[in-house]
Amino acid sequence: MKSYQTSKLQNKTVVVIGLGLIGGSLAKALHQSNIFKDIIGCDQDVASLVEGVSLGVISRYEEDVCVAVAQADIVVLALPILSVESVLAEIQAVISPHAVITDVGSSKASVVQAVRKTLGKKICRFVPGHPIAGSEKSGVSASNEHLFAGQKIILTPLQSTDADAKELVSLMWLLAGATVVEMGVERHDQVLAVTSHLPHLLAYSLVDTLATQEDNLDVFRYAAGGFRDFTRIAASDPVMWRDIFTANKGAVLEALDLFTKDLSVLRRAIVEGDSPHMIGVFTRAKSARDHFTKMLSQKAYLDPMQQNEKVFIARPGGTVTGEVRVPGDKSISHRSIMLGSLADGVTEVEGFLEGEDSLATLQAFRDMGVVIDGPHHGRVTIYGVGMHGLKQPPGPLYVGNSGTSMRLLVGLLASQSFDVELAGDESLTKRPMNRVANPLREMGAVIETADEGRPPLKIKGGQALKGIHYDLPMASAQVKSCVLLAGLNAEGETSVTEPAPTRDHTERMLSGFGYTVQASQTDNDGKRTLSLTGGGSLTAGRIDVPADISSATFFMVAASITPDSNLLLKHVGINPTREGVINILRLMGANLVLENERQVGGEPVADIRVRYAPLKGIHIPEDQVPLAIDEFPALFIAAACADGTTVLTGAEELRVKESDRIQAMADGLVELGVKAEAQPDGIVIQGGVIGGGEVESHGDHRIAMSFAVAALRASGEIRIKNCANVATSFPNFVGLAQEVGMQLVEEGA
Ligand code: S3P
Repeated sequence: MKSYQTSKLQNKTVVVIGLGLIGGSLAKALHQSNIFKDIIGCDQDVASLVEGVSLGVISRYEEDVCVAVAQADIVVLALPILSVESVLAEIQAVISPHAVITDVGSSKASVVQAVRKTLGKKICRFVPGHPIAGSEKSGVSASNEHLFAGQKIILTPLQSTDADAKELVSLMWLLAGATVVEMGVERHDQVLAVTSHLPHLLAYSLVDTLATQEDNLDVFRYAAGGFRDFTRIAASDPVMWRDIFTANKGAVLEALDLFTKDLSVLRRAIVEGDSPHMIGVFTRAKSARDHFTKMLSQKAYLDPMQQNEKVFIARPGGTVTGEVRVPGDKSISHRSIMLGSLADGVTEVEGFLEGEDSLATLQAFRDMGVVIDGPHHGRVTIYGVGMHGLKQPPGPLYVGNSGTSMRLLVGLLASQSFDVELAGDESLTKRPMNRVANPLREMGAVIETADEGRPPLKIKGGQALKGIHYDLPMASAQVKSCVLLAGLNAEGETSVTEPAPTRDHTERMLSGFGYTVQASQTDNDGKRTLSLTGGGSLTAGRIDVPADISSATFFMVAASITPDSNLLLKHVGINPTREGVINILRLMGANLVLENERQVGGEPVADIRVRYAPLKGIHIPEDQVPLAIDEFPALFIAAACADGTTVLTGAEELRVKESDRIQAMADGLVELGVKAEAQPDGIVIQGGVIGGGEVESHGDHRIAMSFAVAALRASGEIRIKNCANVATSFPNFVGLAQEVGMQLVEEGA
C-alpha cells in the first residue's frame, strides 16, 4: 500500500465488536500493521477478550461497548447479523460524528434496514461491507491475520454514504490484504444466496440427514473424500448461519427453489436412466468447476491473454531425434465439435486437440445446450441436437484467442432463432470480421460489429437466410467455411468460389456427415467453386483427428536446421490443401520422407521422417501461400538458417493473424541479428548467423514456438516473452520439445 494511503489510517482507534473468526482476523491484521493507535476488542465473552490480548489479536479490550465506541474512529461490527440492530441501538448515541462504522455481515439488506432504523443522521457514516473469506472454524483462537490476503471484500455503500467514510473502510481492508469491490445491496444478497448460503444449507442438511440415520456410525466411518469435501462447511457456526438464512430469506428461497427444480429433473433422469441428461449435467458442472477460479473473478472460462507472463527460455544447441506425435489438428477439431453438435445422433471423436482454441469451440456449444463428454485423452463424445436444436446461451459466447471459432460460429449462428453475441480476447478483438459479416449480411443475416468490423459480434436471431453465390476476395478457408455453414440453413443453393485452394476440412467433414457438397472448377484459372443446398441434415459418425501439420511444422523445421537430427513425426495430416510447408521445405533442400501414407476418416495421413539437410534461400511460390498460411513463422526460421536469401510475396494475410506475423517475425529476427526486412505482403530474409537475445511473441502461439526452434542454431540464449498462448494450439509443446532434445524451459517452472 502507498504511504499516503496508510497515513490516513495512522493513529486511528479501531473498535471491533465481536471477536469471532472474522472480527478477530481483521483486528489481528490491523494490530500487526502497527499503524493504528489502538485496536480495541469488545465481546460478550470476556474470556475471548483476554485470549484476544494474549494472542496479539487486539491491543486491549473494554467490557462496556459504549466506553469503547466513544473512543473509536472506526467501528467494525463483526456480529451475527440479527444482533446488529440491538448493538447499533445501544451504541448510536456515543458514536462520534467523525467516526466510521462498518460491518462484515453476509447479507446486506437486513443490515441496511437495521442501520436505517437506528443510526439517524449518522447513517452517512455507515459503510456496509462483507469479506468473502472465512473458514468453518470459529472463535478468537482461529484468528488469522492472513485470512483476507488476496480475498475480495464487497462494499455495498448507500447513496447517502460519505465518500471519506467509504475510503477509510476501503483502506482498512486493503491494509488487511484484501481487494475491494463494490456492488448494490440487492445484487450482493442474490449472489451470496447462490454462491455461499445455498451450499451451506445443503451441507448442513445432508450431514443432518446422514447423522440421524440409524446406522450413522457406518455412514461416517466409511465416508471418504466426497462426504468430507462436500460437508466441510457444515462445521460452521450455527447461530451465524441461522441469522444469515433468516436475514436473507427471500434470495435464499429463490435459489433453493431453482435448485430443487433442477434436482427433481436430475432425479427423474436417474429413475428413467436418461444418460444424456446426466452426462449433460455432469459435464457442464465439471467444466464450470474446472474453470471456477476464472468464473469467480468474472473472467471467461478460456482467457489465455490474461496470463501473458509466461516466458520461454530457449538455450542454444541440442539435436532433434526420436519419434513424436504432435497434438490433433486444430481446424479439424473445431469442425468436429460444430458438425457433431448439429448432427442427428452421437459423434465420437478421437485425437481431439485439447488446446484452448478448440476447447473454446467446445465450451460455446456446451453453452448452447449441447451435451459433450470429454475430452479425455483426445476422446470426445458429442450428443448431437440436430440442425435446429441449439439453445440460446446464458450470456455472450467467449472464444478467447480463436479466430476460427468466431468466424465459423458466426456462419452457423446467423440463422438461429435466438440473439447471440460472440466475444474474444484482446488479440481477437483486433481482427477483421467484416470478411465474414459482409457475405452473411448478403444472405440476410443481421450482424453488428464494433468499429471497423471488429469483435464483438452481435447476431440477431430469427433471420431467414437466402443462399448466395460468393466470390471470396481473399484465399481464406475461414470465410469459405463460414458461408458454407450458413448455407446449411439457408433457402436454396449457397456457393463459394475461392481465388486459390484453401484448406478443405469443412467440405470433407460435411461429406463425412452425409451432406452433399459439390466442387467444380469454374473458370480457366481452375478456381474451385463449392456449393451446397440448405435444409438438409447431418448424420453423426466417428472422426479420427490426425496430428496437426501446423504443429508438426515446428519440429520439421527444428530437425531440418539442426545437424545430426533424425526425427519421425507420427500420424500427421497431409491433406493436399495443407501440404505447402512440405513443398516449401523441400524446395529449400530439406530432407522429408513421407512413410506409411494412408487415409484415416476421410483425411490423408502419413508419418514424416525429417533429417538434417543444408537449406538454401528461395523465392517462395505464391501458389503455396494459402497451403502453408500458418507455417510461415517457422519457415522464416528455416530461411534464417538457409544459405542465401528467401523472399516471400503475396502473403498480406499474415498481417491479420493472431499478431501481425510479418512484423512480429521481422522484429524478432532483427533482434537476434538476422537480416530481415518486412514488406507489405511478405518478407525478405538473408540467411546467416542467429544470435541470442530477447524477443516478443505478441501473445501469438506460432511466433513463440518459432523462436524456440531458432535457438537450436543460435549462438546465445533466446528469451521469448508472452508465451501463454502456445496453449491455444499446442498445450504440451515444451514437454515434446524437451523430449526430442531441444533445450527449452519455461522461466520459473
Ligand atoms: C483456418 C484457416 C486459416 C488459418 C487458421 C485456421 C481454418 O485462416 O490461418 O489458423 O481452420 O479454417 P484463413 O482461412 O483466414 O486464412
